[in-house]
Amino acid sequence: MYVWRKELEVGVETIDSQHREMFRAFNSLLSEPGKPDSVVPGEVPWMIGFLEDYVVNHFGMEELYMRRHNYPGYAEHKAEHNRFIAMFYDLRDEIDAEGITPAAAQRIAATVGDWLVGHIGVTDRELGKFLKEKNRK
Ligand SMILES: [Fe+2]
Repeated sequence: MYVWRKELEVGVETIDSQHREMFRAFNSLLSEPGKPDSVVPGEVPWMIGFLEDYVVNHFGMEELYMRRHNYPGYAEHKAEHNRFIAMFYDLRDEIDAEGITPAAAQRIAATVGDWLVGHIGVTDRELGKFLKEKNRK
């Protein structure tokens, strides 16, 4: 379920290549590809570093495209990004305070897994459709 497949492509290569990278990162957290339950707690620290960069660079790029082309779904799309960022920083604070507990490792894997399918598979694809229709990048 949480493995990259063609239906997840938004059709804009700069966005798709970063999405593929996110899938790869997610799957290297796991001992069994696609299964958030198989998260390896020792892999969590680098994933946190990866996500820190990702939320700035990748969300920033999508938001720039949206603003540049007056995307009508901008506010909602950005709100989803902001919810992910809030969740991520809460979890990071918890890990800073308590270390990587199995529960925190599980939560980060589940949240990222849901994000891949729910946000990339739905919200980002809508954006991709808009950008492609207008041939805007
Ligand atoms: Fe997005």
